[in-house]
Amino acid sequence: MLIIMRLCCLLSRSLDLRSLEWSYLFLDSQTCQLLASWTTPAYLSLPSPRISSRKFEWKIQTPHPFDLRYPYSYPFLINHPDKCEGPRGAPFLLMLVMTRPQDVGVRQAIRQTWGNETLVPSVVVRRLFVLGLPPPLFDKELQALLEEEDREHGDLLQVGFLDTYRNLTLKVLMGLEWMAQHCPSAKYVLKVDSDVFLNPRFLLHQVLWPNGPSPPDFITGHINRNTNPVRRLHTKWYMPPELYSQSKYPDYCVGPGYVLSGSLALRILTTAQHVKAIYLEDVFVGLCLRLLGVKPTPAPPNTFLMFRRKYNHCAFQRLVLVHQFQHQELLKIWPDFLTSNAACPTV
Ligand SMILES: *[C@@H]1O[C@H](CO)[C@@H](O)[C@H](O)[C@H]1NC(C)=O
Ligand SMILES: *[C@@H]1O[C@H](CO)[C@@H](O)[C@H](O)[C@H]1NC(C)=O
Repeated sequence: MLIIMRLCCLLSRSLDLRSLEWSYLFLDSQTCQLLASWTTPAYLSLPSPRISSRKFEWKIQTPHPFDLRYPYSYPFLINHPDKCEGPRGAPFLLMLVMTRPQDVGVRQAIRQTWGNETLVPSVVVRRLFVLGLPPPLFDKELQALLEEEDREHGDLLQVGFLDTYRNLTLKVLMGLEWMAQHCPSAKYVLKVDSDVFLNPRFLLHQVLWPNGPSPPDFITGHINRNTNPVRRLHTKWYMPPELYSQSKYPDYCVGPGYVLSGSLALRILTTAQHVKAIYLEDVFVGLCLRLLGVKPTPAPPNTFLMFRRKYNHCAFQRLVLVHQFQHQELLKIWPDFLTSNAACPTV
């Protein structure tokens, strides 16, 4: 495919066919530039001096490869509409855990550790793993496995689009849509990635307010302020100017884990219907917040750690989240983490 696309670029450039009627068969220069910069010599990525109206039309018709189709009614393929019902009423905390279809072992580790719904018995916690469609090569086998896993645990929420890093925003938005449809009275929503350590006790008791209503404008986590879009091609966070042209991002809570009040989650979802979705989900939530006039609330200092930290019993009792934590390590430290240790300084 790539080769064919490159060929189209080459042809359209060397034969200068772009002004002809059928030139729409060829790619526009921006796409070519992107392709060319992957491997080909620099002369191919020079911008073309000729601008035809054809090219303009093509640009309108062809979405950027990072473009997201939203709003769009993606189906829930595995669903649990009554997850939030129960004798104890709406959950205090709804955990939306982002995982990939193939991460079966990661989900199992999370269920046995921080994703355990009954870890803090005084509050109602509900957990759902949000995932998309498996990669095409093994999709049949994986899909059957997923359905089996869900029969056993009843905690998968599968949405009908390809599960890729660049589609993460869709996963978060569809998690919020599920919440709006089936769990609108949840007091708080936690968006969390699967490569983290999480301390639900500290989150519930020191960061949230278990005995009162949730503040309507509350969102907290590790806040990034005044950051610039990455404009270097081929980097993980590259943001094409065509998709986001401003020179600064709004303040936002960083993706690995943030928690917000249920009412704010619903307002973000409403706002998201009118904002162009970008693939950086945390920045996108920040854009919605800015439109809503809501500022993220700073968390207690050093409680949302964005980089790996070696496990330490006492230190981990007094934080919410550590990013870049592998599930094997999570399983290893968890029994120790749960033991009480009188030698730790009191919280
Ligand atoms: C969840 O936590 C409760 C209370 O600590 C415990 O009894 C239960 O075995 C745990 N469940 C899992 C799946 O680990
Ligand atoms: C997102 O999902 C759609 C629908 O499955 C797919 O066509 C598209 O390639 C995905 N986008 C990215 C950037 O991965």
